[in-house]
Amino acid sequence: MGKIIVISNQKGGVGKTTTSVNLSAALAFYGKKVLLVDLDPQGSVATSLGIDKSNLKYNMYDIFCNDVSAKDVIVKPESTNIDVLPATVDLAGVELKLIDNPFRNYVLEKALNKIKGSYDYVIIDTPPSLGLLTLNALYAANSVIIPVQCQFLALEGLTQLLNTIRIVQKNKRENKKSLKIEGVLFTMLDKRTNTGFEVINEVKEYFKEGVFDTIIMSNVAAAVAPNYGLPVIKYQPQAASAKNYKLLAKEVMKQNE
Ligand SMILES: Nc1ncnc2c1ncn2[C@@H]1O[C@H](COP(=O)(O)OP(=O)(O)O)[C@@H](O)[C@H]1O
Ligand SMILES: [Mg+2]
Repeated sequence: MGKIIVISNQKGGVGKTTTSVNLSAALAFYGKKVLLVDLDPQGSVATSLGIDKSNLKYNMYDIFCNDVSAKDVIVKPESTNIDVLPATVDLAGVELKLIDNPFRNYVLEKALNKIKGSYDYVIIDTPPSLGLLTLNALYAANSVIIPVQCQFLALEGLTQLLNTIRIVQKNKRENKKSLKIEGVLFTMLDKRTNTGFEVINEVKEYFKEGVFDTIIMSNVAAAVAPNYGLPVIKYQPQAASAKNYKLLAKEVMKQNE
């Protein structure tokens, strides 16, 4: 099937990486073949899954700048049954390196085209910006999940993200391709206060494109699991966030199969 889903919001700390890692692990839990792509130079995907970044032969930078094929960059973490294309701080150099390349927005799409057929889902984690790396993700993807943290100022920046998505959608349409909004995903909801629920109502009003029924609770296990190099469904299967991410995977499968 090779469905490519990008997790994007240029705001930092909203749960992009946590969602990328745990949605991937949950899809694998349900028997799906998953490739997780890290486009953030912080390289948190590798760290979260217990992959030693100092021992990598290749990383995402080599796909963008050294013509290394994606299949040679794949790493298989011990922590979960998915394939990973890991990023390191090297990736921060891509923007400058490709500045004169007219095809710079399509490097990832081209690289993934060769391997996406081996997977049911390709999940892409993105950096907190709308720069070249995020554009590569949006051009490569079939759809986008927008994590929104259930906190004050959640809406900030959402207009900018939507504008960028519209531009990509327009360009893709010209090439008979599309980019769907898979849904807005509310993350880190603290049920003890009203703020989170206020944000949810506000975003639902503003956002006509649909939001996921599943809401990810604020939950210590989700924050701690990366320290053990594990997705939360492995670290603490009974934790609220582990259950939430399994439900999210089911919702994504239902929308796509
Ligand atoms: N459901 C959750 N409950 C509690 N903490 C969370 C949850 N999701 C993410 N976090 C924590 O919030 C911080 C930001 O999450 P992260 O996924 O790294 O966001 P982003 O990738 O958008 O910057 C991290 O410290 C992470 O461990
Ligand atoms: Mg991140």
